[in-house]
Amino acid sequence: MIRITGFLLGILLFINCRNVPDPIPTGLVTEKAMVVSARVEASKIGSDILQKGGNAFDAMIATELALAVAYPYAGNIGGGGFMVYRKANGETGGLDYREKAPLAAHADMYLDSLGNVIPGKSTLGATAVGVPGTVAGVIAVHEKFGSLPLKEIMAPVIELAKKGVVVTEKQAIRLDNYRDIFMEVNSDTTFFATVYKTGDTIKYPALANTLQKISDQGKDGFYKGEVAEKLANFIQAKGGYLTIEDLEKYEAKWRSPITFNYKDLKIISMSPPSSGGFTINQIFKMMEPYDLSDYGHNSVKSIQLFTEAARRAYADRNYFLGDPDFVEIPLKELLSDQYLQERMQNFSFDKATKSSEVSHGEVHVVESDQTTHYSIVDSFGNAISATTTINGGYGSKLYSDELGFFLNNEMDDFSAKPGVPNMFGLVGAEANSITAEKRMLSSMTPTIVEKNGALWMVVGTPGGSTIITAVAQTILNCYEYNMSMQDAVNAPRFHHQWLPDAIIFEPEGFKPSLLTDLKSKGYIINEENTPVIGKVDAIKILPSGKLEAGADRRGDDTAVGY
Ligand code: DON
Repeated sequence: MIRITGFLLGILLFINCRNVPDPIPTGLVTEKAMVVSARVEASKIGSDILQKGGNAFDAMIATELALAVAYPYAGNIGGGGFMVYRKANGETGGLDYREKAPLAAHADMYLDSLGNVIPGKSTLGATAVGVPGTVAGVIAVHEKFGSLPLKEIMAPVIELAKKGVVVTEKQAIRLDNYRDIFMEVNSDTTFFATVYKTGDTIKYPALANTLQKISDQGKDGFYKGEVAEKLANFIQAKGGYLTIEDLEKYEAKWRSPITFNYKDLKIISMSPPSSGGFTINQIFKMMEPYDLSDYGHNSVKSIQLFTEAARRAYADRNYFLGDPDFVEIPLKELLSDQYLQERMQNFSFDKATKSSEVSHGEVHVVESDQTTHYSIVDSFGNAISATTTINGGYGSKLYSDELGFFLNNEMDDFSAKPGVPNMFGLVGAEANSITAEKRMLSSMTPTIVEKNGALWMVVGTPGGSTIITAVAQTILNCYEYNMSMQDAVNAPRFHHQWLPDAIIFEPEGFKPSLLTDLKSKGYIINEENTPVIGKVDAIKILPSGKLEAGADRRGDDTAVGY
């Protein structure tokens, strides 16, 4: 009996362990600790906190707030996010500091008298703003896991805001593209009406003041008193809904992450109100029975399989998911092996499934859930994966000159009207309709991966609806195609989200003959829309215990560590 069990175990190990040497790292390698984020200033501040003895949670607070200074395009205190962590002892958890709908919000708030969605109302200016969650998020992290005093963690961030940040080439282009709209939403004299060139230094004194209040008073420094009053008055004067009561009532929530096994990996990712963990779980489990690595990276067959799994997963995502505090989500049923195998029963490599023939699945419920990502591993072995956003580039474009930050346009992540796509083309349903104090559904997918029970990867990205597929492809690039962390991040990506029924490909890295093959099988390819997909920042733990960075070349993203 023992011999038979041993034999079976041997076979399993043989199947599960790829008999290939580990790839040579091509990203930055450090001995002990690392932060990878969208800006070198933020990665450096986070890494310095680690080097002076802080833990990954202290570094999370510093990095999140430093991004609010150095990367106003997406880093924020006027938005929200999600964090997944894995402590050195293997304990995992998740934090939801997602924005929520103001008390005055209601299902029809973005519809005209004929019931049509009013263009721009959920995306531009004060009417688009959800109650910010970021400050509550970092303070909750500090209260639960912080090891250094908040003042010590925030001091270098405040210093950065005062000293200023050098404009990169990419940032200068972005600021130039958005300048007219900043002036339209705010005024001709707004802070970002100034023309900034590459190499200029922008100082943020108003933001430094606001950060000082948070450093002195913690959560109350933002959600009560002077800052709260100024913020609520400002948004209301601009025609928005947010009140002091909304701010006072805001709380970040600890949530259990979604965890599942894929071959010999264990994937830990964010649960609703983010759809990231759920959707990646469905995609991976639908693909698991196939020999993905044999098909080859970005081959016709691997693109087909991934697309078909994503098509089915997004159909469920869009129908079933919303804020779990408001809607009941049949997670257990939708993530069961049997259900997911049934969903793939009509898949064939011969021919594309049409999205019009795929709807959300039927489940029997037995019992009555512009962005930036950073990854952190500390020298103790704790890992943090956090994605934070104000939704669009510079959020709603509404900027408080007095307080020094942009406000989100996260309300657009709700389904303003069932069946009508939002700015990411996502078609939502009742589960994600607007209700006062509800959190809007997100695609953010901060993820941590274990291999054979040990920490293996920390990964995440911005990119709206493409976040989920970009994270999934990065994990697969390392696991199925044995790429180094940096190569996995660099590799060209593609995306399908059920509706619209089309695959988008990044502009480089896909041969015309591959697209022709896919078209001949009935796949619709959107050749007009070839954006970069995601900006992944990841860390992989090498067999030696050292860390390899994957800092996305698509942005100014940089890894710093020691
Ligand atoms: O939560 C979400 O899914 C979106 N608000 C994320 C927006 C985003 O990633 C924009 N960045 N490219």
